[in-house]
Amino acid sequence: MIYFKNVSKIFGKKKVLDGLNLHIPKGQITLILGKSGEGKSVTIKHIMGLMQPSSGQVIVDGKDVGLMSNSELRNMRSNFGMLFQHAALFDSMTVLENIMFPLKEHFHFSLPEMLDRVEDVLNQVGLQGIEDKLPGILSTGEKKRVGLARALVTNPKVLLYDEPTTGMDPLVCEMIDNLILKVSKLNPDLTSIVISHDMKAALALADKIVMIYNGKVALAGTPGEFKTSKNPIIRQFFSGKVQGPMEFL
Ligand SMILES: Nc1ncnc2c1ncn2[C@@H]1O[C@H](COP(=O)(O)OP(=O)(O)OP(=O)(O)O)[C@@H](O)[C@H]1O
Ligand SMILES: [Mg+2]
Repeated sequence: MIYFKNVSKIFGKKKVLDGLNLHIPKGQITLILGKSGEGKSVTIKHIMGLMQPSSGQVIVDGKDVGLMSNSELRNMRSNFGMLFQHAALFDSMTVLENIMFPLKEHFHFSLPEMLDRVEDVLNQVGLQGIEDKLPGILSTGEKKRVGLARALVTNPKVLLYDEPTTGMDPLVCEMIDNLILKVSKLNPDLTSIVISHDMKAALALADKIVMIYNGKVALAGTPGEFKTSKNPIIRQFFSGKVQGPMEFL
């Protein structure tokens, strides 16, 4: 469904992606793992056509993103849902207005249809009766869930999660990880792409893990393959004893 073919991305003198080859299969959870600054968010931006490769190709549903017209890009993005690192809710809008926002932007649904969809996605994330509340009074976990409901409301084919649990307490992390799994099970055709630097979450969540290191894929495989890999980069990530270029911020 999504392919990176020999993608390089250079900013000034800095080569962030260096011949990245990647396959993200349809209907599964693929988790992209890598230390901070490794190019995970840059990779996501290429998938959405928000950035173009310096060389190589990004293919989404058989089409080269770099060759898409503006209307093709808009059409592709309307099939994507995105959960941002910080929930990025509009503070002056109610939960209902926040979740309806992408529906009004990209689609032409009647009000009853929109309300039906909002109720459905709020049920999926386990929140009810908060439609009239403002985001300011919600807990961090609730905000994240509203953000997920908003990402889901357009019934996307691809859902992108950029570091969905970074900076959250362990209980909220576990709740969000469980929710990613639940949403994926409830929507079997949904392709989920999760960006993370947490190996534990990767093993618990992913059908496929892709480890990016020095702008290339160090290993792509199942959680089982990661557990038994003898690749020193993977072992270092597992042990948490990261040094030198593997040091976390
Ligand atoms: N628009 C840009 N212009 C110049 N450099 C950029 C741009 N976007 C990203 N970079 C650089 O590319 C590198 C990778 O950034 P990216 O945001 O993808 O990292 P990341 O793996 O998502 O890290 P984190 O885990 O901290 O979110 C960084 O060195 C960053 O400074
Ligand atoms: Mg990032």
